[in-house]
Amino acid sequence: MTDTRLPSLHLPPPRLDWNAAGWPESRDYGDVYFSKADALGESSHVFLAGNALPARFAALSAHDFVILELGFGSGLNFLNTWRLWRQTAPRGARLHYVSCELHPLSRDELERLHAQWPELASESAALRAQYPEHSAGLHQLRLGAAEHPLWLTLLYGDAHAMLTQLCCPSAPFVVDALFLDGFSPKRNPALWHTELLQQIARFCTPATTLATYSVAASVRQVLEQSGFNVEKAPGFAHKRHMLRGEYRGVAEASTRTPRGTLAIVGGGLAGCSSAFALAESGWRVTLFERNAALASAASGNPQGILHFRPVKRQAPDSHFNLYAYLHATRHYQALAHAVGLRWHPCGHLQLATTAALRQRFAAILEESVYPSALLHYLDRDAASAKAGVPLQYPALFFPDSGWLSPPELCTLYAAHPNITLATLSEVHAFRQDRSGWRLHTNAAAQAAQQHFDRIILANSSEAALFPELGHLPFISNRGQVDVYSASADSTVHTIVCGQSYLVPGDNVQCLGGSYYLGDDSPAAVSARQHWHLEQLRDACPTLGQALATRRPLQARRASRCITPDRLPLVGALDAERYPNLYLNLAHGSHGLTRTPLCAAWLTSQINATPPPCLPLLGELLNPARYPQ
Ligand SMILES: Cc1cc2nc3c(=O)[nH]c(=O)nc-3n(C[C@H](O)[C@H](O)[C@H](O)COP(=O)(O)OP(=O)(O)OC[C@H]3O[C@@H](n4cnc5c(N)ncnc54)[C@H](O)[C@@H]3O)c2cc1C
Ligand SMILES: C[S@@+](CC[C@H](N)C(=O)[O-])C[C@H]1O[C@@H](n2cnc3c(N)ncnc32)[C@H](O)[C@@H]1O
Repeated sequence: MTDTRLPSLHLPPPRLDWNAAGWPESRDYGDVYFSKADALGESSHVFLAGNALPARFAALSAHDFVILELGFGSGLNFLNTWRLWRQTAPRGARLHYVSCELHPLSRDELERLHAQWPELASESAALRAQYPEHSAGLHQLRLGAAEHPLWLTLLYGDAHAMLTQLCCPSAPFVVDALFLDGFSPKRNPALWHTELLQQIARFCTPATTLATYSVAASVRQVLEQSGFNVEKAPGFAHKRHMLRGEYRGVAEASTRTPRGTLAIVGGGLAGCSSAFALAESGWRVTLFERNAALASAASGNPQGILHFRPVKRQAPDSHFNLYAYLHATRHYQALAHAVGLRWHPCGHLQLATTAALRQRFAAILEESVYPSALLHYLDRDAASAKAGVPLQYPALFFPDSGWLSPPELCTLYAAHPNITLATLSEVHAFRQDRSGWRLHTNAAAQAAQQHFDRIILANSSEAALFPELGHLPFISNRGQVDVYSASADSTVHTIVCGQSYLVPGDNVQCLGGSYYLGDDSPAAVSARQHWHLEQLRDACPTLGQALATRRPLQARRASRCITPDRLPLVGALDAERYPNLYLNLAHGSHGLTRTPLCAAWLTSQINATPPPCLPLLGELLNPARYPQ
C-alpha cells in the first residue's frame, strides 16, 4: 500500500569522522563517502562515463535530461555532472538532477569538503547559496545560467519513503540515468533492497541507464529482478570492476511533453511567474494583460512580504504553505543573483500581541514541529535588538523571510526572451480549435488571432467571468496598505508584524494590511490608516510615533482572490472537457510566497518533469476539488 503520511520535518544529521586527509567517514554506516584515491576521478569514471553522459549530453537538442541519484552526500557527483553539463550540453537543453538524502550535510561541511576541488568552486558556491540545511521533504533549486538551465531536486528523507511519495499515484517523470551511490550494500542494505529498486524501475524506460561502483552478487541479483540488464565494466583505480546497465522492463512513467506556444491571461504575480517558469522550460509564451502595465492590480504594492503561518500539527495544507515559503526564499535569492532582483532577506518578527497568540506560539514551540533555523522564539529584548527598535512583545522570528517589490519582480519575469508581452489586451473568451486554443481579445493585436497549444488563466477573480469557470467558488476580499516615505526615524531592520505590519525600506515603507469588504469611501480609507497606525503604536511606540508625524503618500487598495479552503487553484481545469487549459488563481494574501512554487508545479505538470513539491501537496491545489 502507498504510504502518504507526511514525514517529520526533522532529519537525523550525519555523524562524521574527518580522517587525517580531511575526508569524512560516516560513523552511522562505517563507510567513506567516496574513493580516498581520487574522488573526482572516480565520480567521472563510474557515474558520468558509466552512464555515457559525455556523449549523451552532447547529442541532446532542446530536450530534458533527468538523473536520479541515491545518496546526495557531499554533492560531488552533482557538481561534477553540472560541470560536464556546462561544458558539453547544447544551448536550450535542460538538466534535472534528482537526489535522495537522509542525512544532509551542513553548508559549512559542504564548504570544507568542496575546498578540495578548486575546479568545482563556482558550482559549489552557487549550490551553497541555495542549499537547504533543514526540513525533510522535497526541495527544488534552479541553478545554472540561462543557456544551460539546471534544476536540482533534493528528496530529504529515506529514499524508499520519498520515492514512494513521489510515485503517488504514478511516476510523474521519466529518468534517463541512475547513479546508485548509497554506501556499500553490506553497510547500508536500505539503499539496495528490492522494494526500493522496484520503485525506481517505475521511473524507467528502455532508454534508462544505470551505473554503480558495487559489483556485489546481491546487487546484481536485485537489479535483474527489478528489470535491469547489468554488466561488469572496468572499475576505477584499485577497484577491478564496476557495474553498468539498462532498464529492460515495461515503462510506466509518462513521456515528456514537446514544447510549443502558450498563452497566459493576467499580468500579475501568478501570470508573470507562470510565464517565466514555462519560458525557462522552453515554451514560447504570450502574456496578455488588460491594463497598460504589468502588476497593476493586487500585485502592484511597492513592497510585499514573505510569510507563512506556523501551526501546531503537521497537516498537508500547512505543509504546502511551509514548502511554498521555503521555495520562495530560494527562488528570490536565485533571481537576485541571476537577474538582479532586489530581494531583501531581512527576517520577519511575528509579535505575540495577545495572550491567545502567546499561547499559540508556546504550543507550536512545544510541539517542536519546525527546525529552529526556520523559526524560533525571541523574548522582547532579543526581538527589539533584532528589529533595532524597542518592541513591546516577544516574537517568533523567521530569519529567511524578507520583502521585495512585486511590480519589479513581474517586470523582471516578463523580460525573459521567450515571452511576448501583450498589454492593453483584455481576453474576453477562448475557443477550442483542433489541438489548442484561440483567444478573443479587445485588441486587434496579432496575438489575438493566433493559435496557442495551451492556455493558463491567471487573471485572479476576473476568471469567474469566463463561463467555463462559473462553478468555482471565488471569494473576493479587499485590502489596504499605506505607503509612507522612508526616513531615519522609522528605520527598522526586520519586518515587524503585529496586528499590522511595517516593512523596512530606503525609499518607501509600507504599513498594512487590513482586510475589508468593500467600503472605499475617503472616511473608511482614513479610518483604516488610523487603525494601522494604532496597531503599530501598540507594538512599537517609537515607530508608531514616527509615522504619525507624516501623511501617507498613498493608500493602496486592491482585491485578493481566495477560495473557501484558502488554497490556490492550480492545474488543469478539466483535462477531458477542456484539454490543455490550466488555472493559476486564488493566492489570497500570500501571492509572493505561493506563486513561485505554484508556477513551478504547473510547469512540471505540463512538461512531465520533476515536480517542485511532493504530489500530495501539489494535488491539494487541483481545481477538480471543486467539481462542476
Ligand atoms: C493590500 C494587499 C496587500 C498584500 N500584501 C501581500 C504581501 O505582503 N505578501 C504577499 O505574499 N501577498 C500580499 N498580498 C496578496 C498578493 O498581492 C496577491 O496574492 C497577488 O498579487 C495575486 O496575484 P495574481 O496575479 O493572482 O492577481 P493580480 O495581481 O490581481 O493579477 C491579475 C491580473 O489579471 C489582469 N486581468 C484580469 N482579467 C483579465 C482579462 N480578461 N484579460 C487580461 N488581463 C486580465 C488584471 O488586470 C491583473 O493585472 C496583498 C494583497 C493586498 C490586496
Ligand atoms: C556514498 S554517500 C553518497 C556520496 C555522494 N553521491 C557524493 O557525491 O558525495 C551515501 C549517502 O547515502 C545517504 N543515505 C544513507 N541511507 C540513506 C537512505 N535510507 N535514504 C537516503 N539517503 C541515504 C548517506 O547519508 C550518504 O550521504
